[in-house]
Amino acid sequence: MYRILNAKLLADKIYLMDVEAPRIAKACQPGEFIIVKMDDKGERIPLTICDYNREKGSVTIVFQTVGASTERMAVLKAGDSFEDVVGPLGNPSEFVHEDIEELKKKKFLFVAGGVGTAPVYPQVKWMREHGIDVDVIIGSKSKSLLILEDAMREQAGNLYVTTDDGSYERKGMVTEVIKDLVQNQGKKYDECIAIGPMIMMKFVCLLTRELEIPTIVSLNPVMVDGTGMCGACRITVGGEVKFACVDGPEFDGHLVNFEEAMKRQMMYKSEEGRAVLKESE
Ligand code: NAD
Ligand code: FES
Repeated sequence: MYRILNAKLLADKIYLMDVEAPRIAKACQPGEFIIVKMDDKGERIPLTICDYNREKGSVTIVFQTVGASTERMAVLKAGDSFEDVVGPLGNPSEFVHEDIEELKKKKFLFVAGGVGTAPVYPQVKWMREHGIDVDVIIGSKSKSLLILEDAMREQAGNLYVTTDDGSYERKGMVTEVIKDLVQNQGKKYDECIAIGPMIMMKFVCLLTRELEIPTIVSLNPVMVDGTGMCGACRITVGGEVKFACVDGPEFDGHLVNFEEAMKRQMMYKSEEGRAVLKESE
């Protein structure tokens, strides 16, 4: 059993939990994810790791309630437990393997959208821990849905917050901030890392391709086993079939077939898709 040490509501329908999982906390790296299961009947829910504390032996997850399983998860409180937590799964972000001195010469732009701010946080924190200043954009629909702003501000070199409705800081989507930074403020970036809803990652990639900024995205398609066996998380990258759980979750965003990925995501949201999913379990 994996005990919940802390559980809180971050914003409307968005929850944060610290979960006791010493083995995962010891081994995990930015970019990786875990799969949690509440009990025997529970669906397996893949969640990117938002933070980890190696001394305390805990990992932090952030999730939004989007259906029956996440709603069941949301009522759990400190002291309750998950039956199973599997991980760390997937591959760490590529930069963790790069030479630190080489990384220090590069200028990184992180783009976080909505709940996707959670997986961006450990990457930015890793950069700060290694003495690398990065620029970060957080986009949310409105002020009430903005998460992790203070935590991110502590780790980022420059933080730019934007809301779709203009209820806080800038008004507009993340792509407008990228354009402003590069085209109006003359900023130059060697690499962009964008994590958020699929539609955001698609439009960020269309823009960064134009601006010639190599871009990494983190994909979170539907997953079942998380081990490359079931095929649920199949996507196409550069014309090749890949499985997000074992080949990713991070990919070259300029090569991802977002149209197909979004269609598959919609299919799994339908009744038919859920039936397909059940059959493959
Ligand atoms: P959202 O709809 O509130 O969007 C967040 C931000 O993305 C917006 O504020 C905007 O700045 C930007 N954006 C959205 N559409 C855009 C467009 N067409 N062009 C340019 N920018 C655009 O996000 P949300 O409701 O928090 O998103 C939830 C989704 O995020 C879920 O589908 C979930 O699966 C996904 N998610 C992905 C990851 C990941 O690892 N990729 C992690 C957590 C959540
Ligand atoms: Fe990736 Fe099953 S979840 S192959």
